[in-house]
Amino acid sequence: MTFRVIRGGRGDASAPGLLVIGAAEVDTLAGGLRAGSDQGEIGRLSASVVGGPGSPAAPAVATWEGRILAAGAREDLERLIEAEGYPLGRFARLDARGGTVTPGLIDPHTHLLFAGSREDELELRQRGAGYMDILAAGGGILSTVAATRAASAEDLAAHGRRWLDEMLGHGVTTIEAKSGYGLDLPTELRLIETAYELGRQGPIEIIPTYLGAHAVPAEFRSRPNATEAYVRHVLDDQLPGVAAHGRARFCDVFCEEGAFTADQSERILRAAQAFGMAPRLHADELVPSGGAELAARIGAVSADHLAAPSPAGLRALAGAAAEGRPVVATLLPATTWFLMKERHAPARRFIERDVPVAIGTDFNPGTSPTASLPLAMTAACLNLAMTPDEVLAAVTINAARAVGLEDEIGSLEGGKAADLVIWNVPTSRQIPYWPAADLVRTVVKRGRVVLDNG
Ligand code: NIG
Ligand code: FE
Repeated sequence: MTFRVIRGGRGDASAPGLLVIGAAEVDTLAGGLRAGSDQGEIGRLSASVVGGPGSPAAPAVATWEGRILAAGAREDLERLIEAEGYPLGRFARLDARGGTVTPGLIDPHTHLLFAGSREDELELRQRGAGYMDILAAGGGILSTVAATRAASAEDLAAHGRRWLDEMLGHGVTTIEAKSGYGLDLPTELRLIETAYELGRQGPIEIIPTYLGAHAVPAEFRSRPNATEAYVRHVLDDQLPGVAAHGRARFCDVFCEEGAFTADQSERILRAAQAFGMAPRLHADELVPSGGAELAARIGAVSADHLAAPSPAGLRALAGAAAEGRPVVATLLPATTWFLMKERHAPARRFIERDVPVAIGTDFNPGTSPTASLPLAMTAACLNLAMTPDEVLAAVTINAARAVGLEDEIGSLEGGKAADLVIWNVPTSRQIPYWPAADLVRTVVKRGRVVLDNG
């Protein structure tokens, strides 16, 4: 095991170091983005092969001032700490008591902030209504837009905190959060600013995304060429305002038949790129709509959903990966489950073609009202035929890449942020295996214990 040690900046807090010991398993996810046959290589360190969690050779993790020092055998870490001149006495010991340690989970696709709920649509869909038909009739996304426009920043923040607490309880330490329920500049900015502010308050870190092209709002629908008129408003008014505000790191669009065409999506995403916002998109969620092809063409950071990519779209994503400019396929199996779809994203075909796969919740009030990333992990195993190890990489290092933070989070490697979770199970293979169970014992964000169910 080779260690990378961070020097300098040793502050004077009482216990700036943390030594996580007593784990049955530590999964480091070291080594960067996973794809193809490596999608399931999680860097598993098992205590069982060295005499159990109490053994000096059992896997452990050391952190210092919010950064990972190293992961490896406890005795090696203690030697390293002394050899490098760190004061061993200033490392608080955290006993994993036979549990599993993983990087903090990353949810790369959420619509965190909205007002209201849409349980009525569940029943409409049970009676046969289509998701896009409900939207076309002025419901769906548009009913959440009406409720969200009427909500104050304080209401939105209170709602956000409630769901962030749930996410933390499920082992999530970083999320991406989209706007898209304002569809006018003031409300879009309120959503982006609230997400930014909630992330600043912590402990969950939040990456805001601007999703102005989520649907055509009611006030544009009576105009001739309504969608095109709204696209022009996004390009001329919203995008410059969002760029000047300066908080959104990504721009997203709903590229789908009945929402925005691939051509409209491309114009918006290219304009966003010129403003310094990286492109990502809702691609081929329901029917092949040219989204996967567009993601590959513009070098999107992530193409999301992909439940219905065309053969050409699959080839385009495989081609981008082969050329060394991979687009992460962020698959959202809780959504296809909740929409009662028979067709799920072809995860195995992405993995066979070396396209890196991430998994997210898509938390939103219409298609995926769950904030539980572990539940989405179970759905990925059951409906996408991914193995638990492939899924773990999908919610850690690959999700980190999908939010542009693969150098900072997503693995337990020297120098990265000390974001980790202790799970109440002896192996991470059990995380998706116990659906809807509370498995999180302790969450550490930037070296601080932020949740302790011990
Ligand atoms: O990812 N389909 C577009 N956006 C969301 C759903 C939003 C909603 O229905 O409120 C999605 O599925
Ligand atoms: Fe979504």
